[in-house]
Amino acid sequence: MANLDFDMPDTTPLKNAGIPIIWVLGGPGSGKGTQCDKIVEKYGFTHISTGDLLRADVASGSDRGKALEQVMKEGQLVSSKVVMGLLAERMLMELIKSKGYLIDGYPRELAQGEQFEQLISPCKLVLYFEASDDTLVKRLLHRALSSGREDDNEETIKKRLNTFHSNNDPIVQAYKDKTKSISAEDTPENIFSQVVQSIDAILT
Ligand code: AP5
Ligand code: MG
Repeated sequence: MANLDFDMPDTTPLKNAGIPIIWVLGGPGSGKGTQCDKIVEKYGFTHISTGDLLRADVASGSDRGKALEQVMKEGQLVSSKVVMGLLAERMLMELIKSKGYLIDGYPRELAQGEQFEQLISPCKLVLYFEASDDTLVKRLLHRALSSGREDDNEETIKKRLNTFHSNNDPIVQAYKDKTKSISAEDTPENIFSQVVQSIDAILT
């Protein structure tokens, strides 16, 4: 059973809401954010990226943000306590207007998935974007020219890939019945047509 020893907002409203929840998995640079933007445009779902939540915390300049920044620069996983707390808080904030949630970059380890389903709700679908490390590195180095992201450099990208490979397989294995693996090597448009098929299948 996952460790639940942390401060959490009351998640009862989320448990009772019964709106679809989609987890979006994939290595660094696999196109999670790109596909989520397209999904938001078509379905009006609420997109929450745990990476974006954490970067906002870093930008706040708080002591916790400073500690998070170090972990992210090392390409490691931030404490699940912090991630789950920020995620639940944001989901509650968006609940009144949400038709469904896209949780981008979560879970990153199996225990995170267990915590989420225990505290919030079972997810309905897992979208998993698969691409080779070569493709991921090329995309991120290209994005580095304009992203301003502290973790878009060769050394940190290698560490992010290692972290991803050490943790992802057990997640995909555990949730294989609701996982849709999609090759992320294609164009964003072709990838999206597969995404649409998967989402339409859970909405009917
Ligand atoms: P996060 O911000 O989630 O980073 P990431 O997983 O490394 O993924 P990215 O956001 O870099 O890439 P993406 O898959 O969204 O791809 P994108 O669409 O941008 O997490 C950052 C850090 O926060 C983690 O390392 C960790 O420290 C921490 N963290 C986050 N969640 C956590 C959690 N749950 N628990 C603990 N720690 C956590 O695309 C990338 C580039 O490719 C773009 O330039 C895009 O234009 C291009 N592109 C996209 N699709 C295509 C395509 N089909 N063909 C060609 N180019 C494409
Ligand atoms: Mg992203």
